[in-house]
Amino acid sequence: MKHYVTVNDIDSSSDWIDLAGELKKDPFKYKELGRGKSIGLLFFNNSLRTRLSTQKAAFHLGMHCMIMNFGSEGWALEFEDGTIMDQGKAEHIREAAQVVSQYCDVLGVRAFASLSNKEQDEAEIVLNGFKKYATIPVLNMESAIEHPLQALADLITIAEKTEKKSPKVVLSWAPHPKALPHAVANSFVKIMKQNSQFNFSITHPQGYELNPDITKDVPIVYDQEEALAEADFVYVKNWSSYSSYGKVLSTDPHWMITKEKLGQAQFMHCLPVRRNVVVEDAVLNGDQSLVMEQANNRTFAAQVALYKILKGL
Ligand code: CP
Repeated sequence: MKHYVTVNDIDSSSDWIDLAGELKKDPFKYKELGRGKSIGLLFFNNSLRTRLSTQKAAFHLGMHCMIMNFGSEGWALEFEDGTIMDQGKAEHIREAAQVVSQYCDVLGVRAFASLSNKEQDEAEIVLNGFKKYATIPVLNMESAIEHPLQALADLITIAEKTEKKSPKVVLSWAPHPKALPHAVANSFVKIMKQNSQFNFSITHPQGYELNPDITKDVPIVYDQEEALAEADFVYVKNWSSYSSYGKVLSTDPHWMITKEKLGQAQFMHCLPVRRNVVVEDAVLNGDQSLVMEQANNRTFAAQVALYKILKGL
């Protein structure tokens, strides 16, 4: 059974990028592939892009789509084995995952990090609970530590927007008033490492180091101006501290991305983005911003992943 739960599930980036290009030219080319099949999308957290783009991808492939805001509409789930369920949790993941598997052929799950329990977040209890007990393929629509659909869309976008063999790509932390998860940054780092042609580095204030197992061998530059010099792509994202898990250590506005800092680079962000906190209006409103291209590529990233799942590739 083929899952898409991490960017490690991409067997060949170039094949996946090529397929995305083919699908963009002719979105309904494989509309018979999903005929008679259903996809269930379970959302434990909010979404705009993931929810709509995954539905659209399923539609292109001829699939029927069922959506549930599980966080607000489903029974509270128990994930521990052997628990006496006499408190607030009404249903065990074992039953829930097997029940959903009877209604669907593919299951998408969105379940963010708690940012309060690192051990549980790193165990991916929700995503892995469904993966363990469901009898159908699972699609990660952003979990505690990865957002592989976003990373694939980002890779497709960079591939479309550069002719350089080894473009300089910088992942820059930016300020944000709330504590945000590491999933987008983690998956972007992983996909950049998988594609070693990129001249890739990360910049953030001291204390914002991501999981060192993920960033191993990636240059980290603490001076943002130095890091951004001569960049071709600047991917901007906030994340909370990993070492002081889930804490906001800085909201220093000097880390906001401005048109001046961007230079000639193209700007990337997964969205949603806080204007004039993470990035100034002049960047988002200007022609160096790729955020709409990234959002559009979410459909084709999801369609490639679903194609691979349906084909069992
Ligand atoms: N980038 C992204 O995943 O957007 P949503 O949270 O709106 O789905």
